[in-house]
Amino acid sequence: MKRLNIGMIGGGFMAKAHSMAYASVPMFFWPTEIIPYRKTVVEVNEELAKNAAERFGFENYSTDWRTLLDDPEIDVIDIVTPNHLHAEMAIAAAKAGKHIISEKPLGRNAKETEKMLKAVKEAGVKHMVAFNYRKTPAIALAKKFIEEGKIGKILNFRGTYLQDWSADPESPLSWRFNKEKAGSGALGDIGTHVIDLARYLVSDISEVMALSKTYIKERPISSGPLDNLGTVKSENTEMGTVDVDDEISTLVRFDSGAIGSIEATRNAWGRNNFITFEIHGEEGSIYFNYERRDELQVCFANDSAEEKGFRTIYTGPAHPNGEFLWPIPALGIGYSETKIIEVNDFIQAIANDTECEPSFEDGHRIALISDAILESAEKDEWVKIEG
Ligand SMILES: NC(=O)c1ccc[n+]([C@@H]2O[C@H](COP(=O)([O-])OP(=O)(O)OC[C@H]3O[C@@H](n4cnc5c(N)ncnc54)[C@H](O)[C@@H]3O)[C@@H](O)[C@H]2O)c1
Repeated sequence: MKRLNIGMIGGGFMAKAHSMAYASVPMFFWPTEIIPYRKTVVEVNEELAKNAAERFGFENYSTDWRTLLDDPEIDVIDIVTPNHLHAEMAIAAAKAGKHIISEKPLGRNAKETEKMLKAVKEAGVKHMVAFNYRKTPAIALAKKFIEEGKIGKILNFRGTYLQDWSADPESPLSWRFNKEKAGSGALGDIGTHVIDLARYLVSDISEVMALSKTYIKERPISSGPLDNLGTVKSENTEMGTVDVDDEISTLVRFDSGAIGSIEATRNAWGRNNFITFEIHGEEGSIYFNYERRDELQVCFANDSAEEKGFRTIYTGPAHPNGEFLWPIPALGIGYSETKIIEVNDFIQAIANDTECEPSFEDGHRIALISDAILESAEKDEWVKIEG
C-alpha cells in the first residue's frame, strides 16, 4: 500500500476538518491502495505549530511553510491558510512537484488563480480546490438525477448561502473582512460554494447582474490569529474598517440557456449554514437545504396527479458515496463526511492518475465569475464572464 505524506499549512478551522478527514478516510473508503499520513503541519509560531501537531496528529511541525518544499518525503501540500496566501504557496508547491489541495476560494481574484492554474499545469501535479459541499451525497444524488434526465432540461437554479455569524456588529474584524487578505467578503467566503454548485449541477455561467452591500463598515479588531467566526468577542476596543461585501445578490445566465439567482450573506439572523438550491426543469424539480443535508426533495412531472408533490429521499447506502458511509439512511451525514469524501477523491486521483474534481480549473472559473459579480455590482450593469 502506498503511503502519501501530507504537509499541511495552517492550523485553524480547516486544518481540523482536513486532518480529521485524513485520519478517517481509510475507516470509510476501504480497501484502498493509498493511505494518507499526517507528516508535517506548519503554523506561524512555535506554540501554534506544536499545538497543531499534537492536536491534529502530525508527526512533525514547522514554523516555515517553505521547509515543506525541500522535503523529499512530502508528497502533498494542503493549503488551509487565509486566502491571500493561497497563490504564493500553491505556485511554490507546484514548482516543487508536490500535489496540491487548496481551500477555497482558490485565490483572491482571477489574476491570482490564472497564475496558479498555469503553475499546476506546467508542473503536471494533481490539483484540487476544496469546494466540499458538492460531495454531500444528497447533492451528488441531485447531479445523478439531472444527468439521468429525471427533471428534463433545466430552466432555473435558485441558490443561497445564508449565515448569521457576522450580523452582530460586535463580531470581530478577522481576515475575512479585509480585502487584502480575503479578496472579497460573503462572496468569496460562502457565495463561491453556491457558484460551484450552480456550475456542477447546471452548467458554466456566462453572465451576471449583481447587487452588493456592506452593512457594517467598522468592527472591533480581532484579538487572536484564529478567526472564530463571531463566536469569540474581541478583547480589543479599537475598531477597523470592513472593505468587503456583507452581502451579494445576483441574477445569472447559464451557458446551457437556463437562468437563475445566487445570494450570499453572513448577516441573515436565524440562518446558520443555509445552503439551499431549488432547480426546476421541464420535467420536475429538486430542492436541497444543507441544514437538512441527509434529505433531497424531488417532484417529477410524470408522477400521477394524485401523487404529485415534493417527496423526501433520505440519502444512504443506495446513493452516491453512501455505500462507504453508514449502513442505513438518515443516520446522519455531516460536514465531516463531505471532507472525507473530498480527501478520498483527491488521494484516489493521485493513485490512479486521474483528474481531481473540482480542480484549479474550476477554482479559476469561479474566480472569473466572482470578479464579474463585483464588477457588475460596481457598474450596475450585466457583465459577461470571459473565456
Ligand atoms: N470549505 C469550507 O467549507 C471552508 C470553511 C472555512 C474556511 N475555508 C477556507 O479555508 C481557509 C482557511 O480558513 P480557516 O477557517 O481555517 O481560517 P482560520 O483563521 O481558522 O485558520 C487559518 C490559520 O492559518 C494560519 N496561518 C496564517 N498564515 C500562515 C503561514 N504563513 N504559515 C502557516 N500558517 C499560517 C493562521 O495562524 C491560522 O491558524 C480559507 O481559505 C477559507 O476560505 C473553507
